[in-house]
Amino acid sequence: MRKKTVRDVDPKGKRVFVRVDFNVPLQDGSIVDDTRIRASLPTLKDLLDRGASLIAASHLGRPKGKVKPELSLAPVARRLGDLLGRPVEMLSDCVGPEVEQAAKALSPGDVVMLENLRFHAEEEKGDEGFARQLAGLADLYVNDAFGAAHRSHASTAVIAKFLPGSMGLLVEKEVEVLTRVLESPERPLVAILGGVKAKIGVLQNLVKRVDALIIGGGQAYTFLKAKGLEIGESVLDRDSFELAKGILSQTAHGKPRLLLPTDVVVTTPDGVEFEPSIKRVEGVPIRVAASDAIPADMMGVDIGPETRKLFAEEIKSAKCVVWNGPMGITEIPEFREGTRSVAQSLADSEAYSVIGGGDVVAAVQQLGFGEKFNHICTGGGASLEFLEGKELPGIAALPDR
Ligand code: ADP
Ligand code: 3PG
Ligand code: MG
Repeated sequence: MRKKTVRDVDPKGKRVFVRVDFNVPLQDGSIVDDTRIRASLPTLKDLLDRGASLIAASHLGRPKGKVKPELSLAPVARRLGDLLGRPVEMLSDCVGPEVEQAAKALSPGDVVMLENLRFHAEEEKGDEGFARQLAGLADLYVNDAFGAAHRSHASTAVIAKFLPGSMGLLVEKEVEVLTRVLESPERPLVAILGGVKAKIGVLQNLVKRVDALIIGGGQAYTFLKAKGLEIGESVLDRDSFELAKGILSQTAHGKPRLLLPTDVVVTTPDGVEFEPSIKRVEGVPIRVAASDAIPADMMGVDIGPETRKLFAEEIKSAKCVVWNGPMGITEIPEFREGTRSVAQSLADSEAYSVIGGGDVVAAVQQLGFGEKFNHICTGGGASLEFLEGKELPGIAALPDR
C-alpha cells in the first residue's frame, strides 16, 4: 500500500477524527441494514485498543445543507454503541463551541459521534474553513469511509490538508481487493454487469482486462438494440448506445467473450409500477421471449432460463469474478430469479468473488447469499469509480507512507 494506513500511526493518547460511511438505509427511524457500521468496527476497535479517543463522523442521506431531523445520526450512534459495547455520546452538531468542548474533554477510550456532516452545505462544497474546523477537533485523521471515497468533500478529502492522515482498515481492504481484480486477477477473470445505472467508464476499463464480460439487467437491452434487435418497451440507455456498439465490435472476435442474454423474461409496461416504489401489478402477463423476439409492446425485466444456464457455464470456469448490478428488477420477487441464479453459480464456484453496488448487494443479502462471496464492497459509486480506473479523491488526499 503506497498510502499511509492506520497501522503506520501511533494513536496512543490522541483524539482521532474517523470519517466513516454510516450512510445506512433507514425506515421509519430504524436501521434496515447495519453492514456499513459493522464494517467500521475493526478500525474503531483497533484505535481504541491502542489508547485513542474517537470522534466518529459521517453523512447520512442527502439533506443538502439543511438540518433534517429524520436524517440525524442518533440511531446510528446507538447501534454503534451496542456493537462496540461501550457508550457512544451523540453530539448535537459537527462543529461549534459545544462540539469543541466535548472534543477537548475526551479521554482515551471515549467515543463521540458528530451529527450529520451534510447538515452543513460546506461539507459537500469541500469548504476549507469548514474542514479546518473539523480538523481542529482532533490530533489525527483516519479515513475509513470507503463508500464516500469518490467524494471530494470537506471531511473525506480536504481535511487531510490540516491533520496527519491515514486510511482505515476498511478502506485498505477495499482497495486491496479491487486492485487485485484490476491488476493481478487469477484468470479467467469474468465481469458481470447489470442494473440500470450507466456504467460506461467501467465497461470501457473492464473490457480491456477481462476474459469474459457478462451483461444482464437493464444494461443488456442497450446492447441488444446496438446489435440491431428490437427491444420493445425495455429500458434503453441512449448515452451508452454508441459505446455498446464499440464494445460489440471490440469483442467480435471473442476476446474477451461477450455474453448477452439469449432469452429474457418479459411483461407489459403496466405490469411494473416504478413510483413511489417498485411493485408488480397483479394479473398482467409474464412470459419468456427469445432476445430476438421481444414483442414490441413488452419489456424485459429479467434474464431468461436459457441465459441463466449460459451465464452459469461461464461462471463455472472463472477464477475471479467481479459483479455489479442485478440481472433483473429484483425488487419484485418474480423477477429475482436471474439474480438468484447468478448468485448460486458464484456460490458453487471456486472463483474469488467480489460484489458491489447497493441494489445487487441488497438483493443477494435478501436471497441469503451474503456469506457466499469473498468480498462485498461497502461502496456503490466508489467501487464503480475504482473499477473505472479512477483514483478516488478520499484516498488521493492521504499522505504517502
Ligand atoms: P447497483 O445498485 O447494484 O449498482 P443499479 O443501481 O445500476 O445497480 O441498478 C439497480 C436497479 O436496476 C434496480 O432498481 C433494478 O430494479 C433495476 N433493473 C434491473 N434490471 C432491470 C430491467 N430489465 N429493467 C428495468 N430496471 C431494471
Ligand atoms: C453511498 O451511499 O454510496 C455513499 O454513502 C455516498 O453517498 P452519496 O452518493 O450521497 O455521496
Ligand atoms: Mg443502485
